[in-house]
Amino acid sequence: MDPTGEASRDWSRSAAAYEHGRRSVGGGAATSVRAGWRPHPLFFTHGSGPRIVDVDGHSYVDHVLGWGPLLLGHAHPVVTAAAHAQLDRGVLFGSSSPAEVTAARRFLAALGWAERMLWTNTGTEAVQIALRLARAHTGRDVVVKLGGGYHGWHDTVLAGYRDYGDDGVARGHSAGQPASALTDLRVARYGDLPGTAALLEREAGRVAAILVDPTSSNTGSVEPPPGYLAGLRALADTHGAVLIFDEVVSGLRLSLAGATGRFGVVPDLATYGKAIGSGIAVAAVAGRGDVVDLVTRGVVHSGTFNGNPLATAAVLATLDVLGADGVYPALDRAAVALADDLRAVAVRAGHVVDVRALGATVVATPGVERVAGPDDFLRADPTWWSHELIPRMLAHGIYLLPGGRLFLSTEHGAAEHDETVAAFAAVLTRIRPPVTARPPSRTATHRGRPTWDSSTGRSS
Ligand SMILES: Cc1ncc(COP(=O)(O)O)c(C=O)c1O
Repeated sequence: MDPTGEASRDWSRSAAAYEHGRRSVGGGAATSVRAGWRPHPLFFTHGSGPRIVDVDGHSYVDHVLGWGPLLLGHAHPVVTAAAHAQLDRGVLFGSSSPAEVTAARRFLAALGWAERMLWTNTGTEAVQIALRLARAHTGRDVVVKLGGGYHGWHDTVLAGYRDYGDDGVARGHSAGQPASALTDLRVARYGDLPGTAALLEREAGRVAAILVDPTSSNTGSVEPPPGYLAGLRALADTHGAVLIFDEVVSGLRLSLAGATGRFGVVPDLATYGKAIGSGIAVAAVAGRGDVVDLVTRGVVHSGTFNGNPLATAAVLATLDVLGADGVYPALDRAAVALADDLRAVAVRAGHVVDVRALGATVVATPGVERVAGPDDFLRADPTWWSHELIPRMLAHGIYLLPGGRLFLSTEHGAAEHDETVAAFAAVLTRIRPPVTARPPSRTATHRGRPTWDSSTGRSS
């Protein structure tokens, strides 16, 4: 406690490590977003199950979970044993290994709808190869993405939710991103089927792919509006475009078959990453055999580490754990219970915070009564979560992501639930209520919208 009675922790070792690290690691952290952490990036030494420990010796309930991959928590024994066994047998053969095929068959069986898949290493790469397949399949170049969603950091799709206007033309999001890389990118509003249909009409005969994160994971984490994904499916069919679901976040997190399994609409291709390797870098594209098989007819798919045996061992172990009876109902129940309790705390404190559960994720949006889609999410109080809440929750031993998402793992139990809720209650009595957003203007464009956190247009 500090003299005012507020919880506090000494992070001097993390602060020193950050200052020291800045001299050798650009920005002092491995990604731009992590470098922006307040008060500074924390340095961690180890994690176990739902908890993580920093260099100052503090333990936290971890709701960051590696920005999503750790759906089984830290150092899950089944994954760790599989990885150890593979480490002993070698981790890179520069050719195929049986596990590559076994894991592919198991993964396709878990999805239930896809005929073929490709291995790669990160979500960014998975989206890259999916777009290349779609362009090769259609002989077209234009990609329509929805709602400024984050699909990785490559130049051709990096355009955040503030980086486009009503004309659908995207602007770059990063310094150094060439304008030429964005000439074939268009952006339509998530949830707006008529607007998307009009954009597709304007671009008739030019659109290779519609790229959508079904649950808009980085801008709201919402259930798709009724009929929305089916509407996108129909639009893709009408216009001869490939429908790509970016399931890098929702894959395995919402169900074994991800958002596709949950909402029942089948894309042509889908991308996966994050949770499929439980923290070991691995990603994949799955989908129609005739589209994926274009890798045998001119589409270049490369990657030194693609399908490496350590990664595929991790996928198999992850599927073993997640395939057990009752795993997903338990995750869903835990998320609903946490959302309910956090919402009740906010109501008691008189703070307007929309709290919702989606699969193994809870999402809190300050200053908004109800988030139905990214447009509502973008009206959140810009600083309440990151500047007011996160540092204080850290002091109470709760490690949170910017942007309002709390990830859960199979290892989070009653103790973690109670600690998170108690910390939220304690912190809410000490911070100002979020600024309540006005209802959205019917004529508003995405241009110049306030951003409520510098990191919410992308993640990791
Ligand atoms: C929806 C979505 N797609 C793609 C990516 C890129 O994945 P990676 O960071 O593994 O390259 C992310 C990362 O956060 C994501 O959230």
